[in-house]
Amino acid sequence: MVTIKTNSEVYKYDIKKKVSMETKKITVSLLYGSVRTEREGIKVARYLEKSLKEQNILVHFIDPLEYKLPFLDKMYKEYSQGTAPEAMENLAQMFRESDGFLVVTGEYNHSIPPVLKNLLDHFQSEYNFKPSAIASYSAGNFGGVRAAVHLRVILGELGMPSISSMLPFPAIGSLFDKNLVPQNKFTEPSAKRFIEEFVWYMEAFRDKRQEGTPY
Ligand SMILES: Cc1cc2nc3c(=O)[nH]c(=O)nc-3n(C[C@H](O)[C@H](O)[C@H](O)COP(=O)(O)O)c2cc1C
Repeated sequence: MVTIKTNSEVYKYDIKKKVSMETKKITVSLLYGSVRTEREGIKVARYLEKSLKEQNILVHFIDPLEYKLPFLDKMYKEYSQGTAPEAMENLAQMFRESDGFLVVTGEYNHSIPPVLKNLLDHFQSEYNFKPSAIASYSAGNFGGVRAAVHLRVILGELGMPSISSMLPFPAIGSLFDKNLVPQNKFTEPSAKRFIEEFVWYMEAFRDKRQEGTPY
């Protein structure tokens, strides 16, 4: 049983299907982009982590509250080998291990949260030739899609083009019950289809990367 807290609420959920160690696994870095004390998007991020794990996918859960990168001074690539701060080194390692990046963004003034942009900007080649997928959320009915559209442009520039589908989560304050089950009939099937599409791209890119990359 896993427990998360937002504001005054407590959410509990089970990760039902255990990851089997026999099959060759897809690894995803899931990047969440808020450090607010009363952040709501953590529910979306944990829900998607659970959904990925139920599909036998390994997940690196990247919470900027845990890694606490400074405002960008030096990018990871600007450090000579072995001299980058530990948090940055750990992130780079997880990104290198990943077959794709699931980015969970809130919508701050119609764009992405600054902490998410700051996290993304620290790295570059670690993302290259791997697909990304965008999940967004907001307090209102549009589910953060304006931020998602901005994010798609950024992820393309970073060398991790995003898959066609996007997954918006509207009304984030009341979307989930205390067991992290979505309280509408759209989210579960949309998330399933979204993850299936993402896996297809990750497998296709992984197979092709094994033949080499242009740079
Ligand atoms: C600085 C700021 C700007 C916001 N701008 C928008 C916005 O443009 N559109 C929107 O739908 N919600 C907006 N909101 C409301 C957010 O959707 C809501 O607070 C959400 O929970 C933020 O994500 P977080 O709790 O994970 O930080 C904004 C919130 C903040 C803090």
